[in-house]
Amino acid sequence: MSPRFEDLEPTADRMREMAKLATDRIIAHIESLPSQPASDIEGGYELARSLVEEAPQSGTDIEELVELVVDRLAAKSFMNAGPGFMAYIPGGGLFASALADFIADGINRYVTVWTAAPGLVQLEVNVIRWFCRMLGYPDEARGFLSSGGSLANFTALFTARRERLPENFLDGTIYVSTQVHHSVTRAATLAGFPESAVRSVLVDNDWCMRIDVLEETIAGDRLAGRAPFLIVGSVGTTNTGAVDDVSALADVADREQLWLHLDAAYGGFFALTERGRGRMAGIERADSITLDPHKGLFLPYGTGCLLVRDGGALKRAHTVQADYMPELQESPELVDFCEISPELSRDFRGLRVWLPIKMYGLDAFRSSLDEKLDLAEWALRELETIAGVEIIAPPQLSVVAFRLRPEGSTDREADRVNRRLLEMINAKKRVLLTGTVLDGVFALRICVLNFRTHLDRMELCLEDIRTSVADLRSLDGSEEIG
Ligand SMILES: Cc1ncc(COP(=O)(O)O)c(C=O)c1O
Repeated sequence: MSPRFEDLEPTADRMREMAKLATDRIIAHIESLPSQPASDIEGGYELARSLVEEAPQSGTDIEELVELVVDRLAAKSFMNAGPGFMAYIPGGGLFASALADFIADGINRYVTVWTAAPGLVQLEVNVIRWFCRMLGYPDEARGFLSSGGSLANFTALFTARRERLPENFLDGTIYVSTQVHHSVTRAATLAGFPESAVRSVLVDNDWCMRIDVLEETIAGDRLAGRAPFLIVGSVGTTNTGAVDDVSALADVADREQLWLHLDAAYGGFFALTERGRGRMAGIERADSITLDPHKGLFLPYGTGCLLVRDGGALKRAHTVQADYMPELQESPELVDFCEISPELSRDFRGLRVWLPIKMYGLDAFRSSLDEKLDLAEWALRELETIAGVEIIAPPQLSVVAFRLRPEGSTDREADRVNRRLLEMINAKKRVLLTGTVLDGVFALRICVLNFRTHLDRMELCLEDIRTSVADLRSLDGSEEIG
């Protein structure tokens, strides 16, 4: 019989049945991850087209639907939740967070206004406070969980604009390095700036923003009557994991009275480790910091974070009065997230962060991140033993970039060889790597960040690189590769 409106409220037994069915499938899926290909997208177009349909007027059995999603559709994808995913910036997805989402959606409370669910809001406020403590921010710092790093970067830029520029802000200029994530450039456009407002500062041999060039550019802009107001530094670039000299950026920002924002979407949680914290010394001096728990804390996608050292700035930028709203809080202890962020209604993201941190403690995350730093170092040492491999960026965190340099080849020929090498490695499907263009040349990168990636998978990765280099050499007959 086709479902009726009463079926929108299943009986207790039916809910148990439905939940068991979904959890059984998910657990089987997670258990299968190590044996799944690192990527399987062949036939993806046909699959996608086969799913196009009108909205159904009557229902379908849930078993069939869960099977479709978890078994058939998730199978045709980058396996970014699996141990072989070392492409882009890996995610992961802790099971505890999946459960937290289930609980959060199951209770479905309104957490954007303190009065509506004080205890639940406090859990999310705690999470923000833990992050502030981790980075050395003072008690008056505030922040919120966003859907991701892009939205956090946008809100930082918007807040800096509101704090540092007049209503007519079009003379404002923003300083980023050539390696900055494109979400920052897009944030400038979204915040209303013309393209020319973003100054792209050259990097040094470590892919970090050059402080001398930054200072010269600011001075030139001041002379030209522009209004410098914001520096955006990177704590872990997407390309190479480079960490800008945060203390030097903070010195320039102090001297020039500019807002300093740090995009630590990829690198920020390495602050939990001694080595990572050492690399970002001075981070607490930034006016605002973007973090992405769905990267370095291994949470499911949809969890970013913005922290602002002077929490009042977030409130000044976002508060708008509306008569139909419930009473909002004045006490600095009690946070209404809708007053310090762009969203009103939203999901209870805090629970998916709070639950795993409470269950496992920060030590578990610290040791897993330390393992990622070790694995990237290990990969570097192994790569250095492969003849013909040139290291483009040794790991500052957990990314290593490299390429083959066939003797006597032009950059263009070398690019062709390296693109082919990437295809050959990925075709084995035990790992998925991606490439990028660094200083005009194509390089491969290994980014280790999934909590499911351990030495055994890194060994497979290096084995696949070695055999692909050897196969490429015999294919091309180009002895000069190595
Ligand atoms: C350094 C950096 N900043 C910002 C972002 C954007 O974050 P999101 O994809 O969560 O919007 C990314 C994404 O990979 C990133 O690597």
